[in-house]
Amino acid sequence: MDFDFATLSPQERYKLLGSSVTPRPIAWIASQSADGVRNLAPFSFFNAMGANPPLIAVGLITRPDGRLKDTAANILATGEFVVHLVSEALAPAMNLTCMDAPSEVDEIALAGLATLPSSAVAVPRLAEAPVAMECRLYQAIPAGSTTIVLGEVLHFHIQDALIDTEKLYVDTLGLDLVARMHGGGWYARQTDLFDMPRPLYKDWQAEHGGKSD
Ligand SMILES: Cc1cc2nc3c(=O)[nH]c(=O)nc-3n(C[C@H](O)[C@H](O)[C@H](O)COP(=O)(O)O)c2cc1C
Repeated sequence: MDFDFATLSPQERYKLLGSSVTPRPIAWIASQSADGVRNLAPFSFFNAMGANPPLIAVGLITRPDGRLKDTAANILATGEFVVHLVSEALAPAMNLTCMDAPSEVDEIALAGLATLPSSAVAVPRLAEAPVAMECRLYQAIPAGSTTIVLGEVLHFHIQDALIDTEKLYVDTLGLDLVARMHGGGWYARQTDLFDMPRPLYKDWQAEHGGKSD
């Protein structure tokens, strides 16, 4: 089946993209308004984009009435936010914070989550999150009904038990992260893995007798 996206509605395109580009990591973003109201919401149009500068990207879709979501408005107003990764233990709280609460509601308090002060930004971070990345807005790209936010990671917090500080080995499976899947409410665990070593061209050449020039 070939879909010409020009002939589809945004909702139809969203269905096809959102249910096939999976699993997606979840950025659970804490932000605050210029007058200090704390906000928390999950976003799965998200990934790490590079390490120099250390950038993450998030796609924030405007509301059906065209207004920015609180997270987008806060990031544009203050230039700061904290991206948390979501363990399975935190998944129910994460899900609670996707509700359409009014802007004046503190969603961190609503979800009953403890916070710790951040090191470089005014927005606090969630105490229970396995990873929290303090971000400064690097660039905001308006793209139709999406605001693509690039954030520069200033501080990276990880639970002490999940990192070998000598070698910087992360206990990735210990993070117990969940990822966004298809449809309205499906998620995935990282429990069905396989290992595939990365090939080198010189090995391929040796086996196939290929030439490099
Ligand atoms: C797992 C999950 C992933 C989501 N991903 C996105 C996303 O990538 N972009 C987006 O605009 N909304 C996404 N949403 C919806 C927002 O979380 C939701 O609109 C939320 O109310 C926005 O809150 P805010 O207005 O406080 O920023 C997602 C929701 C869930 C549960």
